[in-house]
Amino acid sequence: MDQPLLPTDASLAALHWRYATKKFDASKKIPADLWAKFEQALVLSPSSYGLQQYKFVVVTDAALKEKLKPASYGQSQITDCSHLVVFCARTDVTDANVDHYLERICQVRGTDLTHLKEGFGKVIKGDVVHGPRHALIKEWCARQVYIALGQLMFFAALSSVDICPMEGFENDKYDEILGLTAQGYRATVLAAVGHRADDDGAASLPKVRMPAEELLDRR
Ligand SMILES: Cc1cc2nc3c(=O)[nH]c(=O)nc-3n(C[C@H](O)[C@H](O)[C@H](O)COP(=O)(O)O)c2cc1C
Repeated sequence: MDQPLLPTDASLAALHWRYATKKFDASKKIPADLWAKFEQALVLSPSSYGLQQYKFVVVTDAALKEKLKPASYGQSQITDCSHLVVFCARTDVTDANVDHYLERICQVRGTDLTHLKEGFGKVIKGDVVHGPRHALIKEWCARQVYIALGQLMFFAALSSVDICPMEGFENDKYDEILGLTAQGYRATVLAAVGHRADDDGAASLPKVRMPAEELLDRR
């Protein structure tokens, strides 16, 4: 077996270290070169069929964060974090969206487009555009962004960077403020990314998790 890239115990320690940060140190910003790697972690997220029916709005502008705070029940993480990621899921998936993805596969892998459209393309369209899944397409797209959120959270923990994942915001207001509806997206979940304040009491609280025997069904 290959050696792990990181010692497994170190990865596990990062999962114990991380917590949903309640109070960020607003003076600590993530440097641009490090943030560029966070963006790569977002882009590298896997998704069903690889279809990537989402985008990530990254907010660092102080005035825009101030505007978003009341739409987030006044939670201070919005304004005090370094980077606020708004995970936006598409509200519909069309044939054109699928074709755009197929063209990207051709570009990256040199696969023949006609062949792709006849095979993989028909499978995807028959499922998410014209099949039974289309009735629940918003929900399906929303699920995909949570994969990216999880990946970003783990990546941040491994980088000693803090995150508060957040669903405590008014989706409609975010859509309006960020002009998402017209672009065919819905603000779905947030990640406030930055560094914990020294006096964030939540950092030292023991983690509340159900006993493993309750959560794991080993067969
Ligand atoms: C999808 C999601 C949404 C959450 N929304 C909020 C939120 O709006 N505000 C907040 O302070 N914490 C939020 N949390 C944090 C959870 O309460 C926290 O992750 C959970 O209690 C486990 O604790 P830990 O992350 O500190 O280990 C959210 C977590 C997740 C995964």
